[in-house]
Amino acid sequence: MTRDDLFNINAGICTTLAQAIAQAAPKAFVLVISNPVNSTVPIFAEVFKKQGVFDPKRLFGVTTLDCLRASTFVASVVGEPTKASEYVVPVIGGHAGYTILPLLSQSQPAVPQSIMSDKSKRDALIQRIQFGGDEVVEAKAGAGSATLSMAQAGAEFAGKVLRAAFGGETGIIAPSYVNLAADEANAKTIRGEIGKDLEYFSVNVTLGKNGIEKLNPIGKIDEAEAQLLKKAVEDLEPSIVKGVNFKAPPPKL
Ligand SMILES: NC(=O)c1ccc[n+]([C@@H]2O[C@H](COP(=O)([O-])OP(=O)(O)OC[C@H]3O[C@@H](n4cnc5c(N)ncnc54)[C@H](O)[C@@H]3O)[C@@H](O)[C@H]2O)c1
Repeated sequence: MTRDDLFNINAGICTTLAQAIAQAAPKAFVLVISNPVNSTVPIFAEVFKKQGVFDPKRLFGVTTLDCLRASTFVASVVGEPTKASEYVVPVIGGHAGYTILPLLSQSQPAVPQSIMSDKSKRDALIQRIQFGGDEVVEAKAGAGSATLSMAQAGAEFAGKVLRAAFGGETGIIAPSYVNLAADEANAKTIRGEIGKDLEYFSVNVTLGKNGIEKLNPIGKIDEAEAQLLKKAVEDLEPSIVKGVNFKAPPPKL
């Protein structure tokens, strides 16, 4: 199943969970990892809006696995596979296929010029980051998804949210797929950067006591990334609309 095939099953489950959260824990930080994240996060938001409890600063789509894949595959291509955790690559956009946009030009430490200027090497690296999930699903012959790496991603991101909210740590930054209303001032800049008035997008988020403290603008990207950004936005928009417009069927009696 693709992430979109999962929509019909997971959209209903997410609606039920969102309704329960809205009633039982309306102030909770909600970290959505169920796919397709590009649509399930809007589903949560719409339920929360309807129940009058929506706080965009407390709703997150977990895209950490894309960052883990980016670090791992970059380190591997560079020839330093054991140093994956040292590579920090911002991944923006969304969490499916071409909507996943790893900003190799912003990698810290930098991706060597020998890879950045070799189009076939660079394209292959980006493709592997974007479609790494399919690699796992195919390897398991459809019997599951990237369960353990998803667990690592979820634990890592939840840990960051908790450390910022309750551990007093400041300046923790992590990419997440969010409703841009979480920080209207920077959302304006981000919408300008992406060239479209999208309601949801994944960017580097600064975490704080109340969840999202700041959405960090994308910043400088290179020409190849600008092209990929156009494709990401094109693919992301219908997934957002699908989530926003989802109406759960009435419960079976
Ligand atoms: N965001 C990510 O990085 C990422 C990565 C991989 C997978 N995923 C997603 O994570 C989810 C789980 O993937 P998986 O491979 O572990 O699937 P899985 O089928 O192995 O596990 C799903 C679990 O959900 C339970 N479940 C089903 N309906 C439920 C309900 N109504 N309420 C509560 N629990 C329910 C099932 O019993 C099962 O244990 C999927 O949506 C998958 O697409 C996300």
